[in-house]
Amino acid sequence: MSSKIEKLKHLYNLARLGGGQERINKQHENNKLTARERIQYLLDEASFEEVGALVTHRTTDFNMAYKVFYGDGVITGYGTINGRLVYVYAQDFTVFGGSLSETHAEKICKLLDMAIKVGAPVIGLNDSGGARIQEGVRSLGGYADIFYRNVQASGVIPQISAIMGPCAGGAVYSPAITDFTIMVENSSYMFVTGPSVVKTVTNEDVSSEELGGAHTHASKSGVAHKKSLNDVQCLDDIKKLLSYLPQNNKETAKKIDYALNDEVREVLSDCVPENPNKPYDMNTVIEGIIDTDSFYEIHKEYAESIIVGFARLGGRSIGIVANQPMSFAGVLGVRSSRKAARFIRFCDCFNIPLLVLVDVPGFLPGTYQEWNGIITHGAKLLYAFSEATVPRITVITRKAYGGAYDVMNSKHIGADLNFAWPGAEIAVMGAKGASEIIFKKEISKAANPEEKLMEKEQEYAEKFANPYEAAKRGFIDEVILPKDTRRKLLKGFAMLENKIVEGPKRKHGNIPL
Ligand code: HXC
Repeated sequence: MSSKIEKLKHLYNLARLGGGQERINKQHENNKLTARERIQYLLDEASFEEVGALVTHRTTDFNMAYKVFYGDGVITGYGTINGRLVYVYAQDFTVFGGSLSETHAEKICKLLDMAIKVGAPVIGLNDSGGARIQEGVRSLGGYADIFYRNVQASGVIPQISAIMGPCAGGAVYSPAITDFTIMVENSSYMFVTGPSVVKTVTNEDVSSEELGGAHTHASKSGVAHKKSLNDVQCLDDIKKLLSYLPQNNKETAKKIDYALNDEVREVLSDCVPENPNKPYDMNTVIEGIIDTDSFYEIHKEYAESIIVGFARLGGRSIGIVANQPMSFAGVLGVRSSRKAARFIRFCDCFNIPLLVLVDVPGFLPGTYQEWNGIITHGAKLLYAFSEATVPRITVITRKAYGGAYDVMNSKHIGADLNFAWPGAEIAVMGAKGASEIIFKKEISKAANPEEKLMEKEQEYAEKFANPYEAAKRGFIDEVILPKDTRRKLLKGFAMLENKIVEGPKRKHGNIPL
């Protein structure tokens, strides 16, 4: 018996060593933790239980029968983060560069299947040279098996991808389907085709970092929701993100203890400048409303004219969507519409109530916007809000003009409570533009057209650049003092806690993708 136990120990020791000490050293030299170190840091101490440590590949081509590593380049299992169950897989770059074989894929699929059945988040730590080249189409099949399960799991359990090394070719599509992608700066990249193929096809000279590094995807493409300085920060980011989320779509996020002794927030009274053309930072409004230091921003560097992220209100998780007047006056464009729509969809999947802070002058005009489909992308945002059944509260802090008024969680598309601050301006368009159109003849015939325009502008502004026309019609439920916003929201979300909306029966809607 003792020799059998020795054999077992020996096999597990081999599995723990991955591709061997030399390759582990190389991983460290590249400022990367190994797959096992990553899991150890991510999960609660001693909580990890490995599944499939003794799996090996089945390939015999290219002398592969003599190159066998237990675990086959991916460590899979389950454990806890802050006491809550999670499933995790970590690709092991020391084994065939973390490349994905048929059996490597089977291990990830097994994990995803289990996570869907049990209802707990899956975290993928990606660090891989892509499809195992020695296996050809079998590894491609393995990828597709994972993609399929990512889609089955979508909206059922939260799925988080960390990119902590290479992620190229079709491999990028698993992270792209998952809910959040976090990339590590300087050691990770994602692209469908690398720099050498790019050079051949388009004759562009571009480095890996520039083409698909963390900065590129966090700020230019939006593929990454966050970038982290190093492995440790990335894993900390995942832990923090999870704290705002429920385990699955049948639960609500865990409420944390929070002493409610700060409901009135005077700081909100001075956030918005007197001059309606002067920008201000919507982050000060957000901070003024939420529980202290509870904001976790998503897509911080991408489409900065809209802010999205998680926060807590009285200890409960909420999702925030807010126009940012500091960036392009908070206007809605192709990117900001997509960014917000995706976030709203996530919150709605996982029962996270939505707070929408509005200061929006309209949709961004121009050929770039039109040719890049602002119509379709704006419609995504409209669709996402309209379909969301979670509690939804809007606060108009200043401007709500044109179609953007409708789109930004207006009463008409299903918001539950709509508040406005006293300085809110809710109208078809700004007073100047409106006067130039509807009083065109009167102004052109006037002895002093400029003076007439100003007079008409004033008249229009007095009638419409306020929240009271909308309040008269019930489009705004209440005009509130800024300092009372937190109190109103705490009560409003508590009142809406048991909201249920049954939509019409259908297979699924057809969101304008
Ligand atoms: C098998 C691989 C591998 C792969 C790397 N290795 N990629 N083995 N299949 N795809 C092995 C190497 O042979 C080496 O083995 C070890 O991993 C480390 O690789 P290095 O090249 O020494 O490391 P580094 O210099 O850091 O470069 C890493 C790399 C490079 C940039 C990832 O290895 C590389 O370009 N690999 C190929 C990437 C690729 O073209 N993959 C296929 C993409 S197509 P030893 O034994 O020396 O340690 C694809 C399609 C997916 O993925 C489609 C899904 C639908």
